Amino acid sequence: MRVPTLDLKAQYDTIREDILTAATKVFDSQGFILGKTVQDFEAACAEYTTAKHAVGVSSGTDAILIALMNEGIGHGDEVITTTFSFFATAGTIARTGATPVFVDIDPRTFNIDPALIEAKITPKTKAIVPVHLYGLPADMDPINAIAKKHNLIVIEDAAQAIGAHDDQGRQVGTLGDYGCFSFFPSKNLGGAGDAGMTTTMDDARAEKLFKMRMHGEVRQYVHTFVGGNFRIDALQAAILHVKLPHLDSWTEGRQRNADTYRELLSERGVLLGDTVEPVEGKGGVVTPFVPEGYRHIYHQFVLRADRRDELMAFLNEREIGARIYYPIPLHQQECFADLSYKTGDMPVAEQLAKEVLALPVYPEMTPEMLVYVADQVAQFYGK
Ligand SMILES: Cc1ncc(COP(=O)(O)O)c(C=O)c1O
Repeated sequence: MRVPTLDLKAQYDTIREDILTAATKVFDSQGFILGKTVQDFEAACAEYTTAKHAVGVSSGTDAILIALMNEGIGHGDEVITTTFSFFATAGTIARTGATPVFVDIDPRTFNIDPALIEAKITPKTKAIVPVHLYGLPADMDPINAIAKKHNLIVIEDAAQAIGAHDDQGRQVGTLGDYGCFSFFPSKNLGGAGDAGMTTTMDDARAEKLFKMRMHGEVRQYVHTFVGGNFRIDALQAAILHVKLPHLDSWTEGRQRNADTYRELLSERGVLLGDTVEPVEGKGGVVTPFVPEGYRHIYHQFVLRADRRDELMAFLNEREIGARIYYPIPLHQQECFADLSYKTGDMPVAEQLAKEVLALPVYPEMTPEMLVYVADQVAQFYGK
């Protein structure tokens, strides 16, 4: 049986007519840049995320970049972030000219460990960029408390986490000064190309963001600061607006699949239970930890697996799209060699980079697919 990493076509088939109608409307209007199509989607996004303002931008990467630029972050500044994320989290910081300062992660949540942040703060520190990795919110209360104490900006990288919330029901993208979302096609809410969104609860920050995405233009051809072309396409906004009302049911499908995996893997005797110790040699897997009351949206369903590389090869040979996010922590990336981090500096992330393995979890998976994947994992471990 073939179980791909993701099946975008299966989802598209269910909403094809609505997508094509929305796209046709944009073509018929020939209004490709901003306008009502974008404003309507921004309003819907603000309502969905409960953010006060939502600014449509060109990608999740630009959503972070524009937030950093909005705060004037650049050369000579330091920005604290997790070492375990997609490259864009750190790449955007470096592109402003600022220095990314990496922090190790919590071994249960895979998110930045708030207890390690304060030791990294210097007089140059301007911001903290926590990531809600795989769709699970980072532990924001201690992060915000540290930020408040040291007068730092908090920019949430919520690229993988739209609709996730903490144990008080507070949604990602509303917890820091900015929230940054990606609508890359494979995301839970994915466009027909690149797109993103920056949210904020602050009126003045929002007003500046809208200008920042238009080259810092305050009136036509009048620029008081340098921004960029960070606009979301009207076509993307129209398509994403069609998809947004389906997002919760898609996310619920992912959550159901995650629960089913837990049951199936447990029944097959390959669950190791909740451990922070290395899983090498333990003959099984650890399923994602979700703190009580949190809403994990399972952009990825990530196991920690004994003999991870062998398991992945075994599953891939059996046409199961298991993947590694991410094999190399950011402090070990060649492009950051001049920052002089060494192997051993971030022991948790370095360990987990060797253990993590994402199983397909997309909502259109059939029950038979889930059973097949669990059976193959069990077979690998001789169960
Ligand atoms: C954690 C994280 N940050 C940032 C991004 C960047 O988003 P995009 O690919 O839309 O530029 C992604 C998406 O891939 C991501 O997963």
